[in-house]
Amino acid sequence: MKIKAALLSKIHGDYTIENLRLAEPREDEVRVKLVASGICHSDEATRIGDSTIPFPAVLGHEGAGIVEFVGSEVKNIKVGDHVVMSYSYCGHCANCRTGLPAACNDWPALNSSGSRPDGSHVFNQEDGTPVSNFFYQSSFATHTLTKENNLIVVDKSADLRLVGTLGCGFLTGLGTVINGLKPTVGSSIAIFGTGAVGLAAMMAAKISGCSTIIAVDIHQSRLDIAKQLGATHLVDSSTGDTTKQIKAITDGLGVNYSVDTTGISAVMQTALNSMRTRGTMAPVAVTSKNMDINTFRQLVVSSKKIIGVLMGDAIPQISIPQLIKFYQEGRFPFDKLVKFYKLEEINQASKDSANGSTIKPILIIDEHYKN
Ligand SMILES: NC(=O)c1ccc[n+]([C@@H]2O[C@H](COP(=O)([O-])OP(=O)(O)OC[C@H]3O[C@@H](n4cnc5c(N)ncnc54)[C@H](O)[C@@H]3O)[C@@H](O)[C@H]2O)c1
Ligand SMILES: [Zn+2]
Ligand SMILES: [Zn+2]
Repeated sequence: MKIKAALLSKIHGDYTIENLRLAEPREDEVRVKLVASGICHSDEATRIGDSTIPFPAVLGHEGAGIVEFVGSEVKNIKVGDHVVMSYSYCGHCANCRTGLPAACNDWPALNSSGSRPDGSHVFNQEDGTPVSNFFYQSSFATHTLTKENNLIVVDKSADLRLVGTLGCGFLTGLGTVINGLKPTVGSSIAIFGTGAVGLAAMMAAKISGCSTIIAVDIHQSRLDIAKQLGATHLVDSSTGDTTKQIKAITDGLGVNYSVDTTGISAVMQTALNSMRTRGTMAPVAVTSKNMDINTFRQLVVSSKKIIGVLMGDAIPQISIPQLIKFYQEGRFPFDKLVKFYKLEEINQASKDSANGSTIKPILIIDEHYKN
């Protein structure tokens, strides 16, 4: 069928709104009519080549919409269901079966290869040129084909313009803390970078009972929001020695946990150095930058750990309803962080996200949707 999508044709290119052909759904696929999609920093990282995918491509991996068609092998999704889309996983490898679908053995084939695992394409240009899909959802489009494991059915009362954006950035921030770091009640944590991921990590630290929650950023406006959402201390890292300031807040010892969302080499170093003995750091940014450490002096002697956490180690079908519940209880007010744009304004929305003026842009794809 003919659809409309924001197409990206090359690294550093602008998005262009194009007509594309969407393939016929297979037995194990679901066709979703998109209502809205968040823009995640990882879309931008892919646009600028910090993470790779064959171009042309339709990006977007925080979609929400309404199910239009289900293949005969799809068991738990019905036409008319309202769904949030998250990442794809196979459901039957050892990691999926032990409750770690973010570590699915088929992750790259399903999420970042640009095609179905067999190499066929979900989207084609009108001249037949194959177009990559992304996270098996490509939510910057009016319609898409996805898989049952990408989908989280939500109550029809949930506002689909808002909840799609829970599918990646906010999920990552929440899960990095709740599933990755598992902080003990009363502990201390420093979050480097208070964008969507960092602020979600901060709210999760509060929910988890951390007593000292230090937000670090270079923009005062971001720090002000962090304060409203529960940071106990703010550090503007553009002024003074950040490690020293964090140690001063934590009796000279440093924090128990740190999360880096900036992906900047020097900031990642600071996130490691500002922890106390036995501290655990989760660097979660999608970055092409490295961290140069002396393993003996910076890890072994102080028994510190650095852990990789993908998609917050979250099972989306469990964590997204949980996030919606936290939101309804007033404990996860992510709606304060979003700004709505039309699909046609995607280039402006990406710029506003990259320059920090919008924390979480959401593209409205179906302007007729009413909650
Ligand atoms: N691991 C995963 O599974 C996963 C999933 C989603 C997103 N991500 C990645 O997480 C990262 C954060 O995403 P986001 O949407 O929150 O991005 P963002 O750009 O909104 O946030 C980054 C923040 O870092 C701040 N910052 C920049 N330089 C700084 C410095 N020197 N010191 C302190 N703060 C500084 C910025 O002001 C901004 O507030 C991105 O790299 C994104 O791609 C990872
Ligand atoms: Zn798997
Ligand atoms: Zn993302």
